[in-house]
Amino acid sequence: MAPAYESRTKRSAALFKRARKVFAGGVNHNARYYRPYPIFVKKAKGQHIWDEDGNAYTDYWMGHMALILGHSPKVVTEALSAQIENGTHYGMSSGLSVELGEEISRDVPCAEMMRFCNTGAEATMYLVRLARAQSRRRVVIKMAGGWHGYNTELNKGVKAPYDRTEGSGIAPEEQAFVKPVRFNDLDAVERAVRGASGDVAAIFLEPVLGAGGCIPADPGYLKGLRELADREGVLLAFDEIITGFRVALGGAQERYGVVPDLASLGKIAGGGLPIGVVCGRKEIVSAADPGKEGFASIGGGTFSENPLTMTAGLATLRHLRKSKSVVYPRLEELGTRLRRGVDAALSARGLDVRTTGMGSLFLTHFGPTSPYAREPSVGDKASADAYGLHMISSGSFLLPGHPGGISAAHTRSDVDDFIRDSGEYPSGGKKMGDARS
Ligand SMILES: Cc1ncc(COP(=O)(O)O)c(C=O)c1O
Repeated sequence: MAPAYESRTKRSAALFKRARKVFAGGVNHNARYYRPYPIFVKKAKGQHIWDEDGNAYTDYWMGHMALILGHSPKVVTEALSAQIENGTHYGMSSGLSVELGEEISRDVPCAEMMRFCNTGAEATMYLVRLARAQSRRRVVIKMAGGWHGYNTELNKGVKAPYDRTEGSGIAPEEQAFVKPVRFNDLDAVERAVRGASGDVAAIFLEPVLGAGGCIPADPGYLKGLRELADREGVLLAFDEIITGFRVALGGAQERYGVVPDLASLGKIAGGGLPIGVVCGRKEIVSAADPGKEGFASIGGGTFSENPLTMTAGLATLRHLRKSKSVVYPRLEELGTRLRRGVDAALSARGLDVRTTGMGSLFLTHFGPTSPYAREPSVGDKASADAYGLHMISSGSFLLPGHPGGISAAHTRSDVDDFIRDSGEYPSGGKKMGDARS
């Protein structure tokens, strides 16, 4: 039971009951479910969300990490209000999409050329297709624990034991050319490249493992991958759907100083509206030019370059570029403060924890932490879930067991509240949020 949570969230409980009748499992993204039931959000502004019962939370899920300026920042809402008068959807190109493309190209080192689509899952699917079109090879090496969205091929090796597809409905043959290897282990990638006898199209990874544990690449690892890829004639591709515009304006590739051949972007690039972006070296991405014989057939779709998304993305990225010397150091400071503070507060309760992350990203691990990916350890998931529920009941929203993200709207006092409330997490989860029952 989770009495503190349940007594505050009765309308969410009722909505979840109705949702279970119309949506499989009551949700529209598996990540949004947690026990006993998720809150249902009524409104959001700045660093806050409010649920249907009127409870206010300081939000650290931030629209599934898509929001870096907080909810509904003025720069975005004003631009959107103006754009709505000029149409909500064209199904055609517009000057706005060209401007957003140019903006991304200016900010992200590898993004010489790109295509817009609507989700990250689409972007990573197209990335694989472009890598194969360029290399005329088939195998994609990904990381154990790496999450790239729900597309068929890459939905493999996400949860331990990492050598299989993530549930029913996908034939192993559909993922036969996707090989998960251990994150932060250069030798493992080298072995996989050699083992595939010249058939590796790309090494594809998140520079900071996201859902797999919010674990940054070790110093030297990405550089080592770049050198290995160049030596073996293999493409290097980064999934920067979380890290893009978050760990630096130019993403992890700017921060680590390692430029991949291809990258997927999403989330922040759409300023809070749906987007996916596949980008990279012109020579590779231009293979999708339909004017070319035998071109690589990738999308978009009906809603790609939707003018509202383009407007919100442009407003966000332009604001970030103008204020980057203030925004990123501040996110860094708040992130470091939170990670250190939470670890100190929970360790003082005698808990074995480590909060990992980079910049504004964080995730608290209970029990031993692996540098490779979140490995299941006894009590790890139960404690993480119970801590998550405790934090929600205390007024900070994060999805239990998932990474959190700080935005430019958060304050130092929000972070200090978060640390204080973490310190009240009952060892053993007896006081409020025991998600195990
Ligand atoms: C690293 C990474 N890649 C891909 C995706 C999939 O993006 P989307 O949910 O927009 O399909 C996500 C989503 O959380 C992600 O974190």
